[in-house]
Amino acid sequence: MQYTNPKTTGTTNFYMSQITFEGQSILHKPNENLLKCLIRANSKPPYSCRAGLCHSCLLQSISGSIPANAQTGLTESQRKQRLLLACQCQPDGDMEIRRPLKEHSKTDAVICSLKALNPDIMELQLSPQTPVRYHAGQHIGGWRGSDIQRRYSLASVPGIDSELHLHIQLLKGGQFSEWAHHSARVGDIIKISAPQGDCFYHPSFGRRPLLLIGSRSGLGPLYGILRDALGQQHKAPIVLFHRGNTDQELYLQQELKQLASRHNNFSYRPIIGDDNNLQEAINSTLTKPDSLRMQAFICGSPSLVQNVNQLLLENSVPETKILADSFSPFIR
Ligand code: FES
Repeated sequence: MQYTNPKTTGTTNFYMSQITFEGQSILHKPNENLLKCLIRANSKPPYSCRAGLCHSCLLQSISGSIPANAQTGLTESQRKQRLLLACQCQPDGDMEIRRPLKEHSKTDAVICSLKALNPDIMELQLSPQTPVRYHAGQHIGGWRGSDIQRRYSLASVPGIDSELHLHIQLLKGGQFSEWAHHSARVGDIIKISAPQGDCFYHPSFGRRPLLLIGSRSGLGPLYGILRDALGQQHKAPIVLFHRGNTDQELYLQQELKQLASRHNNFSYRPIIGDDNNLQEAINSTLTKPDSLRMQAFICGSPSLVQNVNQLLLENSVPETKILADSFSPFIR
């Protein structure tokens, strides 16, 4: 049988899906699973058992619907990342797929913009060479050279921002942050790893009050999560607490006030002071009925995350409804 474009033939009139695998276009034959299709096209996909057991044929869908069978046995996190088993996937439409970026595999990303949000926070906007699927609030590794690396959370929102946005706080002696603040230029290329982490907004949170809490550059992921929730028409109340030692540390105030004026369900609570002041402010607003239904996000230093997490638990916020991004200094 001849397989040619157009995708439907005059004699058989069946639909042939087009598979795009890392830039290569392949017409999918009926009754052929995705793995066989890629092997036939000499795309050299990874595989072993061909029976859905070993998971070595794990690929990531960039676009197109994923048949349910193709995700049987995967974790919720893997399903959310649109991972699938090629040997169990019977395509029912066009699909664009690729090998998944593993946590420590890297891709190049070009710096498109550098903008000081305050004297201590630089916003880097990055355009990755390989498309990156992510949720606002997840983190990526950033490498400069072979061994200078840091983990940063994503302040950008897919579908709203065209580039990846990172808020980089200047750390004394921090090689990556000092480079980003003092030496980086538009056009420079760094390496980044695949997005990781579960600290992001999910549409199932739609009826829960959202409590977003962060200090200093912890605002980065929260700003992404907030705009993601508003963009997905979150209707329940959203409160954002952002703490800084000074007014200057409370960056993006104008943008947050504008969002609060446009969305009746969003309140912005800037706090000048230390973590104790922040906890007092949170404590004074929590009520038990709301706490029981709440979805909370905490982003900042390990001590902030630990203390606020404890405070929320004491105020009846369920442990399973607290997501946190604790900023640790280095990854290896
Ligand atoms: S090849 Fe083993 S699960 Fe697909």
